[in-house]
Amino acid sequence: MPASVPAASPFPFDPTGLRLNAGKGLAIQVYEALRDRILSGSIDPRVKLPTTRELALALQISRTTVVRAYDQLYAEGYISARVGDGTYVSAPASALTRQANPASSAPQLSQLAQRLEQRRAPPAPSGAPCAFRLGLPPLDLFPSAIWSRLHADFWRHTPEHRIGYSDPAGDLQLRSMLAGYLRHARGLVCDPEHIIITAGTQQAIFTCAQLLLNPGELAAIENPGYQRAGAALALAGARLCGIAVDAEGLVTEQLKAHSAARLVYVTPSNQYPTGVTLSLARRLELLAWAEHSGGYILEDDYDGEYRYSGTPLALLTSLDRAGRVLYMGTFSKIAFPGLRLGYIVAPPALAAPLANLRGQYDRHSSCAEQAVMAEFITQGHFHRHVRRMRRASRARRDTLLGEWERLRPGGVVLPDIAAGLHCCASLESPQREQQLIAAAQAAGVEITGLSRFWFDHNEVAGSVADSSGLVMGFGSIDEAAIARAVKTLQQAWRHV
Ligand SMILES: Cc1ncc(COP(=O)(O)O)c(C=O)c1O
Repeated sequence: MPASVPAASPFPFDPTGLRLNAGKGLAIQVYEALRDRILSGSIDPRVKLPTTRELALALQISRTTVVRAYDQLYAEGYISARVGDGTYVSAPASALTRQANPASSAPQLSQLAQRLEQRRAPPAPSGAPCAFRLGLPPLDLFPSAIWSRLHADFWRHTPEHRIGYSDPAGDLQLRSMLAGYLRHARGLVCDPEHIIITAGTQQAIFTCAQLLLNPGELAAIENPGYQRAGAALALAGARLCGIAVDAEGLVTEQLKAHSAARLVYVTPSNQYPTGVTLSLARRLELLAWAEHSGGYILEDDYDGEYRYSGTPLALLTSLDRAGRVLYMGTFSKIAFPGLRLGYIVAPPALAAPLANLRGQYDRHSSCAEQAVMAEFITQGHFHRHVRRMRRASRARRDTLLGEWERLRPGGVVLPDIAAGLHCCASLESPQREQQLIAAAQAAGVEITGLSRFWFDHNEVAGSVADSSGLVMGFGSIDEAAIARAVKTLQQAWRHV
């Protein structure tokens, strides 16, 4: 098929609403009705128009009448015939349609939508994973054959009650499996009743903020920090205040200056993006803050599976005696982000209200994906996959550190990488950050500046930007690609 001819639509032409009145010529009415539909864009140009015989039958009129209407449409260029195929809206007419769309008048948006406009989510990076894209695990290792077999099993044996509406808190088998996994892997003892399955961390943060904050109330967030968490909190109506991060993680002392804060969002196991671990002393201070102020802590454990050295510190959730911590996990980093599955472990008093909130606005996550994930864990595939992912990312980390040390591109020093799928190297100035990123980009290597993780001081009170650096993901590309990218950087940064 030539490139200019669009593929045929799977939907047939729909004559619904084509009404003809007595008293006016029928052919002209058919002509006008089809012309108006073409001009308003309501006929997809890929839809084959009915034959004159079919349309005559559908409208209960003579075929000659329809032939006259079609002849007029052909003559004026609205429709054209494709040899051996049928009749379609012609290309010039469909282009006319696009121009005629009244898209220019600005829509009246709600205040919420206007807030969203100011914080447009950056488009998801397109194309295959590359060096040193952030946020992706070793997707090449996902056992898709096992996953598709489990899906096939689900659909082969699915009892009807599993594909209707279900519990907004999530699939019970999945929640039970998660409780077992969290106890074994993260030392977190919890009851499946207190787990709520979500569509990933993004939804978890937004749901918790909606549950715990009134519009205009203050939420504290690490600065530099996870911009999407800031967006989710702001979307729920929070005012944000940034809290600085140092070598021990969130500077809890600064919370005293924001006594009105109702909640704090933190990434204690592997601060995003600096890679710092929140020290035990700061964990205890944070918990004491929550207990005394009546605030809540959102603990985002997004990549807790990836620890390469040192024993992980106890989760805030495990240390919490006062029911102030909401723990958030995701399958995005250990399975794949497109799955959109995550979970909250809530303090007992918040589990039912959270499930209720979820149920009210989008009911629950996909039953098939939840059931397949539950089986994936039950049959031991998850456990094996986690081990494989950790081994692979450790090897990728080792290659990055080894090659970097050997070639020292741009004289930049990488820190030790004790956990996670990315690292953050400090630089002396924003100018240096810009120069290195631009040169890397020109050489085809993707690097994100630390400046991208600072909250805009116009929007966020509290700690302001003062450091520069390079944030680089190493999880999604193999060792050979990492070595090549380090070599490329060495050459690209030679004269920067
Ligand atoms: C700090 C942080 N938390 C959570 C996530 C995962 O988010 P989600 O579960 O919505 O995919 C990411 C992904 O990059 C992240 O960087």
